Amino acid sequence: VIRMSDLDLRDQRVLIREDLNVPIDDHGQITSTQRLDAALPTIKAARDVGARVLVLSHLGRPKEGQFDAESSLAPVAAWLREQLGTPVRLVADYLDGVEVAAGEVVLLENCRMNVGEGKDDETLAKKYAALCDIFVMDAFGTAHRAQASTHGVIKFAPIAAAGPLLSAELDALGKALEHPAHPLLAIVAGSKVSTKLTLLDNLIGKVDQLIVGGGIANTFIVAMGYSVGNSLYEPALIDAAKKVLADAKRRGAEVPMPVDVVVAPAFSAQAPATVKPVDQVGAGEMILDIGPETARRYAEMIAKAGTVVWNGPVGVFEFDAFGKGTETLARAIAASSAFSIAGGGDTLAAVDKYGIADDVSYISTGGGAFLEFLEGKELPAVTALKARAAK
Ligand code: 3PG
Repeated sequence: VIRMSDLDLRDQRVLIREDLNVPIDDHGQITSTQRLDAALPTIKAARDVGARVLVLSHLGRPKEGQFDAESSLAPVAAWLREQLGTPVRLVADYLDGVEVAAGEVVLLENCRMNVGEGKDDETLAKKYAALCDIFVMDAFGTAHRAQASTHGVIKFAPIAAAGPLLSAELDALGKALEHPAHPLLAIVAGSKVSTKLTLLDNLIGKVDQLIVGGGIANTFIVAMGYSVGNSLYEPALIDAAKKVLADAKRRGAEVPMPVDVVVAPAFSAQAPATVKPVDQVGAGEMILDIGPETARRYAEMIAKAGTVVWNGPVGVFEFDAFGKGTETLARAIAASSAFSIAGGGDTLAAVDKYGIADDVSYISTGGGAFLEFLEGKELPAVTALKARAAK
């Protein structure tokens, strides 16, 4: 694909699709700037070479065809002004053209308020395309959505290029999964096997070691013949878990099971935490974390890994009493010399909580997009860029 860095942007109208979909609280405060921090260098780079910069993004999931103040990018515009140290106009009415000076940055209001955005409408895609001389797709976090601003516009823009953030994400994920340093270890945790089954099926064909955690691990523990008491698990997915274990065995990949777990009588921060061997979970108990011996063994595997892919905390780390497993693995990843990549909302919250952001080789801005990449799917926006480059 063409990369933004290959192009001369000076004086050009450059429309940059970013994923500025950040959490905003009831007071209009942005609660995590991770995605903004990641997008900022792209915007600055275009501005600094004298481009006429138009930034396009969605925020949340507003209804199309009407203005929704709660989904306005106004807080993001304020953040950009502060970071760029220049005025940043937020323009709501832009589909028929926007004046923008060389070296100016204009933020276009939430593209999901535009009729046709969600269904990748060609008329809308052509309107986006007409705003620019060069379209830069940089929104890795939305690259799995085939929508007018991420996919359709690529067909019609005079020139379509991959932005530096999108390129960095694809490079890092490619390094981790397509040509990894071995052993390749993946940590896949979360509440449900059902939402991560495609991912588990894909990864088990690539990894040397797969650590499962959370509700996912509970279903695996049941598949191994143990009781998980009152824990969350999915009876309908026991066979799927068994198949993952069988596939792993056939490939010689390791899927270690916890030897000990932390249990509690209730899902609560105040619930007393007790460490138990995995085969002694009582009927009324819930597994809320891996035990210390399990965490020690997993940390040892991480220390020997060549590549670590981390998606999902292995316990209820929001409650300190059930966060030690996740903390131990987070610290092991931070200390390891492996190429490490972390992604997904909960995972990034854990990275923040344990302060290891600087010690992970790459932190993805993708939630759903990161998962779809791990599932082995081609992201529609990337497919469109490739198709465009092939012409
Ligand atoms: C995300 O937060 O994962 C992306 O911004 C995509 O948002 P969406 O799930 O509303 O399409």
